[in-house]
Amino acid sequence: MDISELQTDCLQCRRCPLCAERRHVVFGQGVPNAEVLFIGEGPGAQEDEQGLPFVGRSGQLLDRYLYAIDLDRSKNIYIANIVKCRPPQNRDPLPEESSACMPWLEEQIRLIDPKIIVCLGRVAAKQMMDPDISIMRQHGEFIQKDGRWYMATLHPAALLRNPAAKPDAFGDFVALRQKIREVCRHTY
Ligand code: URA
Repeated sequence: MDISELQTDCLQCRRCPLCAERRHVVFGQGVPNAEVLFIGEGPGAQEDEQGLPFVGRSGQLLDRYLYAIDLDRSKNIYIANIVKCRPPQNRDPLPEESSACMPWLEEQIRLIDPKIIVCLGRVAAKQMMDPDISIMRQHGEFIQKDGRWYMATLHPAALLRNPAAKPDAFGDFVALRQKIREVCRHTY
């Protein structure tokens, strides 16, 4: 099974009630052999409309941070979410929605086999790294788990609400560039 076959299956998913209201399943976007995988929380209105991750206002901000360290979803990374269908009113995914959806993400990770996973915001960081993580205290710190490096940074939507935190997030991306230079072979 390759990632496009996995996507075909995922587009039919009815494992949780979020399937009822969706316009599109937002499977993910990027290069299939990416060494760096970004994981967000779940689609918002624009993403649900277009079927692509991070295409709304927070996605435009994310793209600028990516560009600053020579990353680009069409060239050298992959972007996915914890849940692939939009939660109503952009609420946090419920635990049962995340658990129902996680096997898709786990299979994406297995197929892409990234060296570095960057969690965008609290929901992804708690799910992927540590249920007790504090993003405000621990953003930018790398941990090693199951043979991969993990780092959490502030969610771009949080940066839109609180622009004073942008330098912190930028520092995380600079640290990410350094880690990529250390552990990745073909990203740069
Ligand atoms: N926020 C997310 O967490 N993911 C998206 O795809 C878009 C906005």
